[in-house]
Amino acid sequence: MRPIKVGLLGMGTVGTGVVRIVEGHQEDLSSQVGSPIQISKILVKDLAKQRHLHVNSEVMTENPWDVIYDPDIDVIVEVMGGIEPTKGYIIEALDRGKHIVTANKDLMALHGVEIMEKAKANQCDVYYEASVAGGIPIIRTLMEGFSSDRITKIMGIVNGTTNYILTKMSQEGAAYEDVLKEAQALGYAESDPTSDVEGLDAARKMAILATLGFHANVALEDVSVRGISNVSKQDILYAKRLGYEMKLLGIAERQDDQISVVVQPTMVKSSHPLSSVNGVFNAVYVYGEAVGETMFYGPGAGEMPTATSVVADLVAVIRNMRLGVTGQQAHHAYKEKKLKTDDQ
Ligand code: NDP
Ligand code: HSE
Repeated sequence: MRPIKVGLLGMGTVGTGVVRIVEGHQEDLSSQVGSPIQISKILVKDLAKQRHLHVNSEVMTENPWDVIYDPDIDVIVEVMGGIEPTKGYIIEALDRGKHIVTANKDLMALHGVEIMEKAKANQCDVYYEASVAGGIPIIRTLMEGFSSDRITKIMGIVNGTTNYILTKMSQEGAAYEDVLKEAQALGYAESDPTSDVEGLDAARKMAILATLGFHANVALEDVSVRGISNVSKQDILYAKRLGYEMKLLGIAERQDDQISVVVQPTMVKSSHPLSSVNGVFNAVYVYGEAVGETMFYGPGAGEMPTATSVVADLVAVIRNMRLGVTGQQAHHAYKEKKLKTDDQ
């Protein structure tokens, strides 16, 4: 069978991992989808930049339309981040019948409804597992694993950078600015780390999780947000002395028709499983009326864990193409909007 051709938008931390997995696991991947997977074009901002991974220079381009308008490309993997010009590229690609895999929570939290509508209209798939909690397959879990249940609470540590910072401050007494720089060097932080430390990244992720878990369109402005930039070493050590760990928690709850979503630094009792989620790890606790308590744990950021989720989405899209069922996944939770309670 002819190779499935993939256009990659971005080859930074996550994009590099995607290339490594597609190349390194090619045999397994092709046996799963019935044909080779070929990354045939890669968009970057700066062709002259030194890369950690060598790829054929003919594949690389600085011109987005080389990728998006290429009629041979079946799937676009977007790992460049940001809202514009990214959203424009994705809409153009969908209009050309290309399926999308993205790790972009900013885009999905703000424009998920519009993108899914466009996907539906064009019979295309849009998968975004890597957008929340890096290597933990939490989106699939909420959409498929819990489709039979009524979820009433989703609570978690969904930002790796801030959890890395808080852990190092708590365990090693490290200085906030030093650990933030480390998290940036390790590729965990966003290009503008303000969105990590001010809780916006976690808020975007919680909006996506609440939308999927509660079958409601939870908009970003419905999330009440406070980050960790004002949390001092003293606050953390004081909490520790009282038997608590300081964590940036996202908490989404629904009661009848009311939904509330908050992100804030929270003192978590040391006996609670979320208190021992350390470093770049994330965890998402889900409570369903039928299933009761469940918790999902794993690396929340970084090259290879995130790329694992991206490539798993790629496999899902190609399987849908083979089965002729693309576009069906877009018929998901974005329904009527419900607002959070006013007392948050
Ligand atoms: P990086 O900054 O490491 O990489 C971004 C890539 O996109 C670079 O290759 C850059 O090109 C390219 N790029 C950026 N803007 C443009 C543009 N306007 N035109 C062309 N190319 C562009 O980001 P990450 O890999 O860390 O993140 C990518 C996405 O994945 C983001 O949406 C992020 O939120 C999400 N994500 C990241 C995780 C992580 O652990 N890093 C985890 C989960 C999700 P060049 O290389 O030339 O600069
Ligand atoms: N900056 C994000 C984080 C990347 O630290 O969690 C993963 O989404």
